[in-house]
Amino acid sequence: MIIVRTKAELINQISALRKQNKSIGFVPTMGFLHEGHASLLRQAASENDAVVLSIFVNPLQFGPNEDLDRYPRDEERDTALAEENGTGIVFIPSVQEMYPDKPLTSVIVNQVTDRLCGASRPGHFDGVGTVVSKLFHLVTPDRAYFGMKDAQQVAVIQQMVNDLNFSVQIVPCPIVREPDGLALSSRNVYLNAEQREQAVILSQSLQQASVWMNEQDMTAEKLAARVKEEIAKASEAVVDYVELLQFPSLQLPEANVSLTTLNQPLILALAVKFGTTRLIDNRILEAKGANAHVQNDDEIQAAPGNRNGSELELCR
Ligand code: PAF
Repeated sequence: MIIVRTKAELINQISALRKQNKSIGFVPTMGFLHEGHASLLRQAASENDAVVLSIFVNPLQFGPNEDLDRYPRDEERDTALAEENGTGIVFIPSVQEMYPDKPLTSVIVNQVTDRLCGASRPGHFDGVGTVVSKLFHLVTPDRAYFGMKDAQQVAVIQQMVNDLNFSVQIVPCPIVREPDGLALSSRNVYLNAEQREQAVILSQSLQQASVWMNEQDMTAEKLAARVKEEIAKASEAVVDYVELLQFPSLQLPEANVSLTTLNQPLILALAVKFGTTRLIDNRILEAKGANAHVQNDDEIQAAPGNRNGSELELCR
């Protein structure tokens, strides 16, 4: 495995791969890797000739009062995990290398960013869109792998790829969870013992919601309110948002309509703070007439052939 820190070294390595006609799978990350990232790397290794991992804590996507300075970092552990999981090249640029000057250009994706983290973290997805497009230009991947824990990020990147004609297939990958259901996140290390114990309420309430959604006259508004009530039972939890939206458009379903009459993929997404730690989680729910179906995380994949401007789809 090769570690490169400059754009010039990365471009050299990529052109060597291209000369050998090797396909490239790309996993962009902010480091402090966990089993969720490892699963992205393994999937990329199984579907491509070469795997490129980037580790870059991108200042552009953090708001002024967010956790940029304390974001956890461990390069040694990350590179060991990368190597064990099939990575060929790791790109670890400095902030100076990525942004030698304050960028005057930014990639702004509208509409899919109106709600959820787009609303509660203004500017966050502009930072994500900008850095991911820079990384796509440098790495020129055939496929890029993103975890569905940040489902809005997947929708935003897919929209950006469609709109700007990036020639890359976006591969959404299932959420990886702890045995008790907590979605893996680099931020879980911030939780104290009490908060960690209580955080299980997030996945549990999403699971309960998948049952409640089948009740007669259950609407998006009522379901979100019930999930909020459930989460409020955890004394340390402060809800930022709980929303049921259409996926992947991330628009509200028709107001006050029984979910059992809808026939479309929905996402129940939440962000909740435990102390200063903000966690996100979601579940794709498929309302299908009276027989609503809950999609398992492992049913969620990119539809084959969504390269070059097609829609993000869920595999059924
Ligand atoms: O999901 C992340 O870790 C980041 O948002 C990403 C995609 C690496 C961009 O900085």
